[in-house]
Amino acid sequence: MAEELKIAVFASGKGSNLKAILDAIKERRLINTAVVCVISNKKDAGALEIAKYNNIPAYYISQSNYSNSDDFDAAIIEVLIRHSVNFIVLAGYLKLLSPRIVRKYKDRILNIHPALLPKFGGKGMYGLNVHRAVIECGEKISGATVHLVDEEYDHGPIVLQDSIELDPDETPESLQKKIQEIEHRIYPEAIKLFVEGKFIEKEIINNEY
Ligand code: GRF
Repeated sequence: MAEELKIAVFASGKGSNLKAILDAIKERRLINTAVVCVISNKKDAGALEIAKYNNIPAYYISQSNYSNSDDFDAAIIEVLIRHSVNFIVLAGYLKLLSPRIVRKYKDRILNIHPALLPKFGGKGMYGLNVHRAVIECGEKISGATVHLVDEEYDHGPIVLQDSIELDPDETPESLQKKIQEIEHRIYPEAIKLFVEGKFIEKEIINNEY
């Protein structure tokens, strides 16, 4: 039997993508997969509440509680090792993962972005900012992108995308709602591709970082 995917979900926000992934696991659309911990840099993130409700260990780990970024990274890595994490899913995590973590989990970190990358990505491109920019640029379509994570914001090989046409009277809020529905569908699908070995897989060497 293939290795079980033990996912750490990183989230700063309400956690609707975390919930979509947990639903897919419960409904067995995603098999051989478990979310083993949730990590947030925001104390009041809805994602932490969703984790607790589902009896998943939930951790608030903020850079502000550490005197330097090495100690902050070490705290995150300690949690990842404690739960034997072998895959990371970023679901609205508003902080760049350190190169140390990106290297340790090379080709085993996914991010979801509410636009059709490579357009409308990068620092500051989150939440309604993204949809405002899409509408202001007069785009006719937008969508969501799941990609492998490298050391830059919203950068790395694209795994899955889906799109919709904008309505003439589209607002950032209406677009956000439609795109979140796409996200909730394609994020579990992208994880499934990994479980089925349908995108690049490399061994991570535990405890080597
Ligand atoms: C999503 O729109 C995702 O694309 C972006 O952050 C948002 C997170 O939403 N990276 P939620 O917390 O999963 O509801």
